[in-house]
Amino acid sequence: MKAIAVTPKTANSVRVVEVDKPKLTEIKDGRGVLVEVLRVGACGTDREINAGEYGVAPKGFDFLVLGHENFGRVAQIGENVKELTVGDFVVASVRRPGRSFYDKIGTPDFTTDDKYYERGISRLHGFMSEFYAESADFLVKIPPAIANIAVLLEPLSIIEKGLKQASDIQERLKIWRPKTAAVLGTGSVGLLTTLALRLRGYEVHGFGKDKGKGYLNAELCEAIGATYDSTLELSVTESVKKYGEYDLIFECTGYSPIIFDAMQSLNQNGILILSSVTGGKRKTDKVPSDKINQQFVLGNRIMFGTVNANREHFELGVKDLALSEAMYQGWLSRMLTHKVEGLENYEKVFDILNNAAKYNAIKVYFEVNK
Ligand code: BGC
Repeated sequence: MKAIAVTPKTANSVRVVEVDKPKLTEIKDGRGVLVEVLRVGACGTDREINAGEYGVAPKGFDFLVLGHENFGRVAQIGENVKELTVGDFVVASVRRPGRSFYDKIGTPDFTTDDKYYERGISRLHGFMSEFYAESADFLVKIPPAIANIAVLLEPLSIIEKGLKQASDIQERLKIWRPKTAAVLGTGSVGLLTTLALRLRGYEVHGFGKDKGKGYLNAELCEAIGATYDSTLELSVTESVKKYGEYDLIFECTGYSPIIFDAMQSLNQNGILILSSVTGGKRKTDKVPSDKINQQFVLGNRIMFGTVNANREHFELGVKDLALSEAMYQGWLSRMLTHKVEGLENYEKVFDILNNAAKYNAIKVYFEVNK
């Protein structure tokens, strides 16, 4: 069968490869599920892997099948799979257990292993293929009513994990009633964060680089009652004069210097969530470190990093996808700006991914099967 792969650490190596169709018997204990891939999204991580900056091939292979934002239909199940049936829609999580204590208790997203296993990213083949086999343990069932937007569940799961941790951490306060939030970055992750926070009742302020007028991402922020500002016109630190200090800030720009602005824009007891995987070598000087340090100490402020997501966060994401359709019907579909039919058209997907601004693209994805 066809799959889309790269040679990790080699720039622009993306291509079609022929691989064997997976078999149920590859998964132990009769827990195998064969999934027909319907849609696969592409994101900044896929772009970085194809740029040769990130990604590791599985042992014994010199290529890595890409794809971690997935959506598919169950084609076959093993004898010990009771929770799924043929025809069900499913989304698979990305990381698989390694050796650490956290991996053993079902939270590989908190692994302390240096080598981690992520489908389509690190040491395991991904989902840009016609079929994949997986243990039912790593599959989340999707209600048919949200099938059309479920390819957004994996990126949403990252946000669900960040927000869940923020509320767990803030239990230190006994009472925490956050009201305002800033979202730094309004690409697909930033828009999903804006949505998740609006669903939780926050007053949300989104920040991007582009000017707001005629910018679809800005329009989408405003369509669900959030504001949008371009940081070219209003810096995050300046924005607190207009909107007040933020109880929660979610950073997803990929531009690390902005975190120091964010650190200075938090309310007392506020929390800053970092989620950008910045693989570059950028350095930042002239950081007002005394001021930032003192604000953090005197205001009991928090900053933490978050990566990946486990089953619990995917399940929270399913509920938010459904709630979003109930509250803001059709909004998520507007994020799915660029559909490319057929894996063989991978060049188109990567062209859109590499030139998102030119295409006005928010989310580009393959439709592998209908
Ligand atoms: C994926 C995560 C993954 C992270 C780091 C992200 O694009 O959504 O599942 O943990 O990259 O590899």
